[in-house]
Amino acid sequence: MSKFDRNQVSEFCLEGRFLDFAIKDGYKLKGLLLATAEGECYVKLAKHLRAAFNLQLPKGTWLQVVGEKTLDLKSGEVKLKASRVMAAGAEKQTRGETVAVSSFGDKKAKPAKATILVCQKSDCMKRGGTGVCRALESALSDRSLSNEVTIKGTGCMKNCKAGPNLVMPDKTRYSRIQASQVPALIDKHLADKIQKQENHREIVISTVSIS
Ligand code: FES
Repeated sequence: MSKFDRNQVSEFCLEGRFLDFAIKDGYKLKGLLLATAEGECYVKLAKHLRAAFNLQLPKGTWLQVVGEKTLDLKSGEVKLKASRVMAAGAEKQTRGETVAVSSFGDKKAKPAKATILVCQKSDCMKRGGTGVCRALESALSDRSLSNEVTIKGTGCMKNCKAGPNLVMPDKTRYSRIQASQVPALIDKHLADKIQKQENHREIVISTVSIS
């Protein structure tokens, strides 16, 4: 019996609450753990989704996932692979906020406005790439920029000995970056976005105080 006779492939569409990411080797995003009506389930993400997934996605977010379901007719094992992940109906979002899941997979999503590219291959990771990724996430979150700026893992940038390597949205490249330098880089290269957030906050505060 060939692999194709053994497997039954069909489409699936499910909704569930996002529980956690499945991460391999400490930094490689592989899939999502979801709480569905049938219980907890693991959905592997297609490669194009992994590269652009919003790693700041809040736990508990309702997601709708569409993809391919493979049933192993011999063992009964079911594998789910997502080709599209979207925030589920607004009525299910308990906080009523817009959730950016990924720049791929949701045809209505606007293109990402800014992307920071970070090499995620082993030489850069060994030289502190994981810490740099964490520092980027935290610096963006501290400045309320998590939904404005995407951190995208890339393949080797051919500058392995000078890792970690990253490229800011304005295409400035940095090598031998330390996690402690990340906040200053964000302030330098995303100053316009930071200013915009601050202006927005001021408007919200003054609107609240008027009412
Ligand atoms: S491993 Fe990062 S540049 Fe080659």
